[in-house]
Amino acid sequence: MAMPIFLLLLGFLAPISTLSSMVQDPKLVVQHVHRSINESRRNMGFLSCGTGNPIDDCWRCDKGWEKNRQRLADCAIGFGKHAIGGRDGKIYVVTDSKNDDPVNPKPGTLRYGVIQNEPLWIIFAHDMTIKLKEELMMNSFKTIDGRGADVHIAGGPCITIQYVTNIIIHGVNIHDCKQGGNADVRDSPDHYGWRTISDGDGISIFGGSHVWVDHCSLANCHDGLIDAIHGSTAITISNNYMTRHDKVMLLGHSDSLIQDKNMQVTIAFNHFGEGLVQRMPR
Ligand SMILES: *[C@@H]1O[C@H](CO)[C@@H](O)[C@H](O)[C@H]1NC(C)=O
Repeated sequence: MAMPIFLLLLGFLAPISTLSSMVQDPKLVVQHVHRSINESRRNMGFLSCGTGNPIDDCWRCDKGWEKNRQRLADCAIGFGKHAIGGRDGKIYVVTDSKNDDPVNPKPGTLRYGVIQNEPLWIIFAHDMTIKLKEELMMNSFKTIDGRGADVHIAGGPCITIQYVTNIIIHGVNIHDCKQGGNADVRDSPDHYGWRTISDGDGISIFGGSHVWVDHCSLANCHDGLIDAIHGSTAITISNNYMTRHDKVMLLGHSDSLIQDKNMQVTIAFNHFGEGLVQRMPR
């Protein structure tokens, strides 16, 4: 099926550089993206598994991808390319879609996996819908990999990537996200804290860096589908399918926030689908 492809590359070059994750020569990154797209297109053809999409061609041509899941971490392009997620850690399998406890998460739940300090590559034992009670506060070096299962995070608060790095979210359906808050939520094995009312985004990136969101479907959330604010940078948002939503994607929320002048985001191969209204992106 031919999908409309919208390719947009943003490289905001700032006069001051405070963030170590800032790429000094953004034009090189853009050039690299174009080169990998060109290479993938050259490898298309009859009896070839190539699609011309360099991210997909990087792992889908591997028949044993399910045994080599962590290879996906090396397939990103653009400013979020160096997000390794849980590439160097163990596989963690989510078996329990119910029983979300925001302060004392139980082993087997998604929340228990994402708060750990060690790197983890998180996969799902079977199809499931996870309705969270509060925001899912992610810790650094985590991949949420929905490949092989039909996974929905829906109907409650959704994903928050706050002041952490190296996050990959792939192949998950994120929709009907609600506000959470006025509650304690755990963000690591040794810390939980009080959360005020959240925006109700699908994925909220707040001071986060090295983040890659790929092949997710996102729809119908309370605020943004994917918002990146407060000094977030080194992000790639690719191959996502977005529908039925007002404020789709916000990159920086205030002109006076000086940190956001460093923001570097690649937005590529996304499908901005039916029922969207504004911020594609803003
Ligand atoms: C990619 O291919 C296009 C069209 O052939 C060409 O104009 C462009 O220079 C190529 N870019 C890179 C970085 O190789």
